[in-house]
Amino acid sequence: MMKTIFSGIQPSGMITLGNYIGALKQFVELQDDYNCYFCIVDEHAITVQQDRLELRKNIRSLAALYVAVGLDPAKATLFIQSEVPAHAQAGWMLQCVAYIGELERMTQFKDKSAGKEAVSAGLLTYPPLMAADILLYNTDIVPVGEDQKQHLELTRDLAERFNKKYNDIFTIPEVRIPKEGARIMSLQEPTKKMSKSDPNQKAFITLLDDPKQIEKKVKSAVTDSDGIVKYDKENKPGVSNLLSICAAFEGVPVAEVEKRFDGKGYGHFKQEVADIIIRNLAPIQSRYHELINSDELDRILDEGAEKARRTAGKTLKKMENAMGLGRKRK
Ligand code: TYM
Repeated sequence: MMKTIFSGIQPSGMITLGNYIGALKQFVELQDDYNCYFCIVDEHAITVQQDRLELRKNIRSLAALYVAVGLDPAKATLFIQSEVPAHAQAGWMLQCVAYIGELERMTQFKDKSAGKEAVSAGLLTYPPLMAADILLYNTDIVPVGEDQKQHLELTRDLAERFNKKYNDIFTIPEVRIPKEGARIMSLQEPTKKMSKSDPNQKAFITLLDDPKQIEKKVKSAVTDSDGIVKYDKENKPGVSNLLSICAAFEGVPVAEVEKRFDGKGYGHFKQEVADIIIRNLAPIQSRYHELINSDELDRILDEGAEKARRTAGKTLKKMENAMGLGRKRK
């Protein structure tokens, strides 16, 4: 039987090159060989306050990008999390299986809550909702960037705990992290990951940046004063990050890209990096603009939600039966 893949992205801002290389690009490569579900996780996005209109815009925009990067709705189910209520329902049940202590140990929770006074309870209980997303589809493999690895480990723990305590119903999912570009770094502080919520706009490139913006951002990317294009994550994080971006786009090992710039200066190198990004994003952007206001996009999302509701509904019933909620149903 064909294995199942599930992954999601938060519509909490414009999608970055990090999201593309770490996640989206993998999705496209996997859709031919797996039964795929790709979700726009809007319920995760509200763990921090969102502007209502912005959120709506970002949800639609992310949906259009899913299709624009090459996800084919005939192969992969594309849908919005809040349109499939089983996610929130299963999320609650898994919150009751998770321990506060293990949730408090999550790096992302620690980072996002550090020094803040009003931290939403949702920020703490975010991982059980993510586990619900994954487990509802009997997922075998979850393609994500490296920063989600810890959440995946927790998902496996919760699934095993549920199977042992209640009934053996969940498939234990495996994580899949790309070889090149699992962690794209900020262009301004290359020891920090590139993030769509970075207040410094120059730190990230979005999938919809125009060629001028891309060129400007790459040219102002922080490097070092060696003047040698070489991969060395420890001592040359900025140059290494740009090399990783090229390697990911071209689907070749970093060493191969490195060789190409042997003896070349940073000016030349950065121009080439900018050109590679611009060239790769151009077709995505033109498809995006065709889709964003189309009825086609609504049709894709309606069909996706319906299909997701069918699959998720079955697992939800099994979960309710296992925990003894409501009345026995088939
Ligand atoms: P999110 O929205 O922060 O990121 C979406 C995906 O992009 C990857 N990513 C990166 N990869 C490489 N370099 C970077 N700088 C970079 N930044 C982000 C992330 O690893 C992720 O794969 N909790 C998840 C969303 C989620 C989910 C799920 C994922 C909710 N439910 C179920 C998988 C399965 C998140 O916040 O991703």
